[in-house]
Amino acid sequence: MDKKLVKVITYGTFDLFHQGHYRLLQRAKQLGDYLIVGITTESYDKTRGKLSVVDSIMTRIENVKKTGFADEIIIEDSPGQKFSDVKKYNIDIFTVGSDWTGQFDYLKDYCKVVYLERTKDISSTMLREKKQHIQRIGIVGTGRIANRFIPEAKLVSGVTTQGVYNPHKESALQFAQKWDINAYTEKEEFYQEIDVVYIASPHDTHYDYIKEALAHGKNVICEKPLVLKKKQAEEVFSEAKEKELILFEGIKTAYCPGFQKLLGIACSGMIGAVRNVEACFTKLEKPGSRERTDRLYGGSFFELGSYVMFPILKLFGTEYEEIAFDTIDDENGLDLFTRVSLRYPSGVATATCGLGVKSEGRLLISGTLGYIVVEAPWWKTSYFEVHYEDAGRIDKYSEIFLGDGLRYEISDFLALLNHNEKNAFKLTRGDSIALAGIMEKFMNEKRLGRG
Ligand code: CTP
Repeated sequence: MDKKLVKVITYGTFDLFHQGHYRLLQRAKQLGDYLIVGITTESYDKTRGKLSVVDSIMTRIENVKKTGFADEIIIEDSPGQKFSDVKKYNIDIFTVGSDWTGQFDYLKDYCKVVYLERTKDISSTMLREKKQHIQRIGIVGTGRIANRFIPEAKLVSGVTTQGVYNPHKESALQFAQKWDINAYTEKEEFYQEIDVVYIASPHDTHYDYIKEALAHGKNVICEKPLVLKKKQAEEVFSEAKEKELILFEGIKTAYCPGFQKLLGIACSGMIGAVRNVEACFTKLEKPGSRERTDRLYGGSFFELGSYVMFPILKLFGTEYEEIAFDTIDDENGLDLFTRVSLRYPSGVATATCGLGVKSEGRLLISGTLGYIVVEAPWWKTSYFEVHYEDAGRIDKYSEIFLGDGLRYEISDFLALLNHNEKNAFKLTRGDSIALAGIMEKFMNEKRLGRG
């Protein structure tokens, strides 16, 4: 009688293929007769927080193939897959490295589980860090968003938060102590000790800080809105280009996996041609808050406008035919609530935001065959539905959104810094320039034009 084939399975990312991977596969193959290797997809790695993978899935598959140990290669795309693969492929032995010891014991009811000793002193993480000099980030500003940035940056390998700059010594010291980083009140010293500037200061200071950071040869991540004038946006981008530096606007929605999935579906034809987009974001702020008192730069639109305009620009583009702003103003003249109406050759859009009026905060994308609806907080997209004329049919999609979501933008920024342009389409220079132009129009019509 024929001897039964012993089937072995193993999984991994196999990024920057190294000796540890080779030895693991070699020993895995020796455990049986037929080796199946599961290789993670980029989206699965993202969902499990592995954000800095360098090689594409094709390269990783090629590298595993080249070893000659794999009889079959499959892709791993979801957390529950190992269990079903063991059943599906009739697996006798499941194996991974000893860094996972104990974690797959639940499979012991279905096959043998072997943890192979991990090869010492080598890992993809180590190679990534060697390959890429660790980027030291210096933060400008000590507000709410800066506080969110630090724990998120800790989750992206390849960056470290070096310190914070604030001209007000007390604020800088307090913030630095809280996060155990350096405090800088002297700009030259700050610039000397960092590679990247993260600008999270009040809106009106962005332009000067960007120019200064670029002049010091630093790459920049700047919170939205990047700047409030189109010319300024063009100027800073062309300066960055000239100096071969990266200038990156931080609109976190642009980089989160769920929002990318949503754009993909909206543009795929599933809902036909997109004809109407309605985006709303409201966040009540107290009357005495900076957002509701800064006479020139406060108000709903400067605060939240980038979020609500963004899906419109991504779906309809930057070439609108008409734009009109409608506001409900506070006694001090700042907009408590703003509605922007846009007309495009192929459709219409409204962007609504409010600091003093609460609304349902929904994103609705209507097409000729159906519509996509995302409830608040759609700007951190994790779930959305596609509806059709047939009310009984609803397609539901979900996607992970971890923490405050800044980790996605930081990891995309880092990829750009390492000359990997594959994510640059998510928020382009053109998008940022158009947004600055819309901010400028609002400033002219609603702030300066008040007489
Ligand atoms: N592996 C190993 N010895 C190493 C590194 C990895 O035996 N020095 C094994 C892992 O235990 C796993 C497989 O190789 O079974 C694929 O691991 P992967 O996570 O892709 O590689 P790492 O180098 O551990 O990646 P990272 O640093 O990104 O976690």
